[in-house]
Amino acid sequence: MPSSVIAGIGMYVPANVVTNNDLTRYMETSDEWIQERTGIKERRYAHRTQETTTTMAVEASKIAIERAGLTVQDIDFIVFATLSPDYYFPGCGVLLQRAMGMRQIGALDVRNQCSGFVYALSIADQFIKTGMYKNILVVGSEKHSFGLDFSTRGRNVSVIFGDGAGAVVLQPTEEDGRGILSTHLHSDGADAEILAMYNPGTHANHWKEEKYASFDEAEIGQMFFSHAMIDDAQVFPFMDGPAVFKTAVVKFPEVIMEALNTNGLTPQDLKMLIPHQANLRISQFVQQKLKLCDDQVYNNIQQYGNTTAASVPIALCEAWEQGRIQKGDLVCLAAFGSGFTWASALMRW
Ligand code: UT7
Repeated sequence: MPSSVIAGIGMYVPANVVTNNDLTRYMETSDEWIQERTGIKERRYAHRTQETTTTMAVEASKIAIERAGLTVQDIDFIVFATLSPDYYFPGCGVLLQRAMGMRQIGALDVRNQCSGFVYALSIADQFIKTGMYKNILVVGSEKHSFGLDFSTRGRNVSVIFGDGAGAVVLQPTEEDGRGILSTHLHSDGADAEILAMYNPGTHANHWKEEKYASFDEAEIGQMFFSHAMIDDAQVFPFMDGPAVFKTAVVKFPEVIMEALNTNGLTPQDLKMLIPHQANLRISQFVQQKLKLCDDQVYNNIQQYGNTTAASVPIALCEAWEQGRIQKGDLVCLAAFGSGFTWASALMRW
């Protein structure tokens, strides 16, 4: 059975740099608070009308495909991870297929938020191993800036997130010991609501509130999305940050160790850990817990904030571009986020 290797990798971030000080124009916050609690100095925001989750994915994908020595016509499957799609449906996979002029290949959308890229990579890995596809484009892209609450009310969430995209081309290899060694996927929906965007959605929770008891059934068409939801700020992401933090610092080390133990390896064997860029304090905690040195952990949340499904491929791409990952190196990708879902992928580059 072949294993999968990353044959090409690319990233794209918008040109518009937004500093912590820039955010103080909209909300009560400070550069000091944001840096101290998250490590973030700045993030990128997509052009309001000319850039979307899909257009950023196109830019990252072009680079990944070119670096793999392929053309767009060689790609035979797309796996696209995002929580900020251009449309509620259809997903971004088909929009990418259209924008890049690809053949009528399959396009799968993954909705696993911060773990989305690692989940997407794991799915692609299975298709490569079975021999079903040869050149799979795996993408993570987010345009968070369009859907955040920029008032003080939403500051605990809005200061964290940024926009960007990353993409890889996954291919089979027969080289012994190379490629993805294993992937590990987990979920626990018990805390689904503590990091979530509730509306629009089909749960109807909003209408169970006392103040809407007299809601007219004839207005059912408004139940999905309404002025009342906007007025109640129910259309923005919600996060109980401290609760997410507490679980993240347990699950990150756990899922990284699961990958290492499965392959009879230790943290010391790792050339590079690429953690999802959730919070610099989380990455530092994980580094300490696994006794990794600074050179073994890649962090770029300082420049880009948390780009959710895009953060792992962007960080991986930068680490590779800087020559910090070479052929034969042991690399671990790990992520944790809304759901909760968490995941890891261990690979020999
Ligand atoms: O990627 C998906 C997974 N997400 C994560 O892993 C995020 C995990 N959580 C976190 O990273 C942190 O919890 C946050 C960075 C979101 C928040 O940091 P924290 O140290 O947990 O702060 P907190 O939410 O406990 O808030 C502390 C104080 C509060 O004020 P009071 O009640 O103590 O007066 C907040 O209102 O900080 C206030 N605060 C802010 N102040 C200035 C919250 N956000 C801000 C802000 N600027 N942006």
